[in-house]
Amino acid sequence: MGKIVFAGAMSHVLDPDYYERACGAVGRRTVEAVMAEIAKMGERFSAKKADALIVVADDHLNAFSFNAVPALCVRIGRHVQRMVQDHAEAFDKVLDHMPERYPLHEELANSILEQGIQAGFDLALSWEAPVDHAFLSPVNTMHGTRPIPPLVPIWVNCFVAPQPTARRCFAFGRHIANVVAKSPWNVGIIATGGLSHFPELSLPRVGETDTVFDRKLVHWMENGEHAPLLELTADELDKAGEHEFLNWMVLLGAVTPARADVRYFGELADPAAALEDVDLSEPERAAFLARDMRKINALGGYLHLVMSIPGLAAH
Ligand SMILES: [Fe+2]
Repeated sequence: MGKIVFAGAMSHVLDPDYYERACGAVGRRTVEAVMAEIAKMGERFSAKKADALIVVADDHLNAFSFNAVPALCVRIGRHVQRMVQDHAEAFDKVLDHMPERYPLHEELANSILEQGIQAGFDLALSWEAPVDHAFLSPVNTMHGTRPIPPLVPIWVNCFVAPQPTARRCFAFGRHIANVVAKSPWNVGIIATGGLSHFPELSLPRVGETDTVFDRKLVHWMENGEHAPLLELTADELDKAGEHEFLNWMVLLGAVTPARADVRYFGELADPAAALEDVDLSEPERAAFLARDMRKINALGGYLHLVMSIPGLAAH
């Protein structure tokens, strides 16, 4: 009988250079501290000698596109490629130093997919989608030079409305736990992304965090109180910059009612520093920091300004 032998959730932009540029020395120090904790989590995971690692993350409209946006998608096949992008953002550029190809746990992925369809989850599947920083930064930070077990990448649509509900993501996690329990394998599962942050689609709030909301989520997770998390709405998550928490909901469903053990919780909340290196005029910068939409529109419009800022990307 199979077992989930390790579960963890973590950020997925793990690039000290990126954070130093965005937030100065404190940014570098913070992400290095996070990465050190993730590496320790990786040591504990490796000690379990698991047969597979399920990675639940979201797409940043680079593996998929508006051509098709799957709510929940299982990567099947035997290998997955590291994403290569001609104009990769800094935190995807760090992938350049990572292995290009990763073995998949084909049988486990197929089991999650096939039994999921049987159970009423209309899952999408992909044989060829590559994986970006959301998968590979955490996986490589966890493992360092140690071997990485076969992966099962799973995408959750966290960004494009209508997203799957928190309740549905949790139920999908329960499904994963059932599949693992019926299997012969010992399996690890991680969820990546978040907590509160605002990608460029919310440009006026880039650099902000809602740590009050974060702490509420952490409190529930630490106490194994998962019922209130099921009630979270897309609107609430969006307003608090918690869109990627849907990935965490899958993980929580897989391990409920286990309590979370917080390894690191840090805060980077400085909108001015986040916009420091962005190519904005001073009036534009001031308008963004003041969230003065009227002024932003007068200066050329929100979309125009977003489109003229090449250095900001979703994460
Ligand atoms: Fe992200």
